[in-house]
Amino acid sequence: MAKVFFICGRVGAGKTTYSNQLVAQEKATHFNIDDWMVTLFGADAPNPLNLEWALPRTQRCNEQIWKISKQLVSLNVNVILDLGFYRKEQREAFRLLAENAGIPFEFHFIDVPAEMRRLRVQARNQGSETKTVEVSDEMFNWAENWFEDLDTEELKTAVVSKN
Ligand SMILES: Nc1ncnc2c1ncn2[C@@H]1O[C@H](COP(=O)(O)OP(=O)(O)O)[C@@H](O)[C@H]1O
Ligand SMILES: [Mg+2]
Repeated sequence: MAKVFFICGRVGAGKTTYSNQLVAQEKATHFNIDDWMVTLFGADAPNPLNLEWALPRTQRCNEQIWKISKQLVSLNVNVILDLGFYRKEQREAFRLLAENAGIPFEFHFIDVPAEMRRLRVQARNQGSETKTVEVSDEMFNWAENWFEDLDTEELKTAVVSKN
């Protein structure tokens, strides 16, 4: 049976790069939340961005992505959800959705030190295959706080990648 891969990690960890590699390995469809947000809402985004604006829109994208994901799995297509999964609540919500739908899933956690991620993001800002939006130092720092570490239970079942 097809399965869903939840790709989790902080800004610049390499989630999208990793997902692109999994696409070929697993013959999977890749949903990248940044692509969805930029394509659907980028033109209407306030400057500076704020959570009150971004969160409900991210949530709507997630709901639509999940609908399509279920359909793909029912057609025996693997699905990669490159949705950040910064908050434990989001990880638990998706875990429950998959469990309730009887869909096999794996959490993959890309765990890279902050200094390396900061450098990667600076390089990506200059132009890279996975660049969707410019990430300022301020956004990077904000996202560092927003991310909730995986707890011991979550880490037990996650596939952890350290590069
Ligand atoms: N394993 C890696 N080694 C070196 N550079 C990487 C690696 N993974 C990703 N990168 C680079 O780091 C930057 C951030 O990667 P990206 O996949 O966009 O991260 P994320 O989706 O987690 O924010 C990109 O420019 C990418 O090319
Ligand atoms: Mg990404």
